[in-house]
Amino acid sequence: MSDTSMTMQQRSTILHLEDVYKRYGELLILDDIDLSVKEGELCTLVGPSGSGKSTLLRLILGQEQPSAGELTIAGKVAGTPDTRRGIVFQRYSLFPHLTVLQNVALGRNLQTGFLERRRRRKEFDEEAMHYLQRVRLGQHADKYPHELSGGMRQRVAIAQSLLTKPPILLMDEPFGALDPETREEMQIFLLELWDEHRMTIFFVTHDLEEALFVGTRILVLSQYYTDGRGELPNGERGARIVADYHLPQMASSTEIKHNPEFVQLLEHIRQEGFNPNYLQHARAFNLKHPDSFQTLSEVEHYTATSVTTSS
Ligand SMILES: Nc1ncnc2c1ncn2[C@@H]1O[C@H](COP(=O)(O)OP(=O)(O)OP(=O)(O)O)[C@@H](O)[C@H]1O
Ligand SMILES: [Mg+2]
Repeated sequence: MSDTSMTMQQRSTILHLEDVYKRYGELLILDDIDLSVKEGELCTLVGPSGSGKSTLLRLILGQEQPSAGELTIAGKVAGTPDTRRGIVFQRYSLFPHLTVLQNVALGRNLQTGFLERRRRRKEFDEEAMHYLQRVRLGQHADKYPHELSGGMRQRVAIAQSLLTKPPILLMDEPFGALDPETREEMQIFLLELWDEHRMTIFFVTHDLEEALFVGTRILVLSQYYTDGRGELPNGERGARIVADYHLPQMASSTEIKHNPEFVQLLEHIRQEGFNPNYLQHARAFNLKHPDSFQTLSEVEHYTATSVTTSS
């Protein structure tokens, strides 16, 4: 896959986070996040429950601001939510009293005033219909969300988020509420859409297998590591990106999930990010992606090398 990496080198950076911290009161959630993402990557983000994955997405969305550090989109401060980012949640992103078409058109309607909306209604409806067809739901435009299956509802939510053509699409466990079969269909569907649009996607999931299957890059966010700062007063530390791998898309067939290399990487990542008894040192994080970088504090820099402990 050297062709892919060549073109990746030439693409520009769309998202850049440097020394980003996020606190809620006394609690440090994100602890010095460094991340650089190029246009067109499909990044998946995994990590233990409560490690701060959704918090990181909210920072990228601009719904929340970092406590410290810098977060830019195409070189400009991320600021508050705007059309540079779209988001799809696990569920509840549709209005039950609006039809499927009206739900999709909402993206445009919220951006325009009442009079303009009235004047351009036909145009907006046609545009919404176009996106509905893209997610293969053209025939269901006049239905209400409760008349659709879970997978169909998520496709509506995806159409809604695509409408404003956001350069970055954020997805927080978008397929988490679906049964395994529908989930697999949606994973393939997402890959097809990504192939067609080539936008940058940031995809949070609990499911490591899903993350490895859909991603071109996997980021592991975890609070299980050591860094020479000693134990913090509450015994906890904020999460950092402890692993970052380039994933050559081995095949767009689900058979890859049974490939021994795939299974081995999955086990490796499970150990690195999810096992509280296995603590990598911050200096020894597995940051194998070509765009990965990390700034270390003086303490982290000078303390002993990898103290990997297993028990
Ligand atoms: N608005 C908030 N105020 C205070 N604490 C918060 C807030 N939002 C999140 N937290 C805390 O921040 C931590 C990280 O939460 P977050 O939802 O980002 O984790 P997550 O990795 O997405 O977890 P999950 O996998 O369970 O979805 C948790 O301890 C949570 O309780
Ligand atoms: Mg979450």
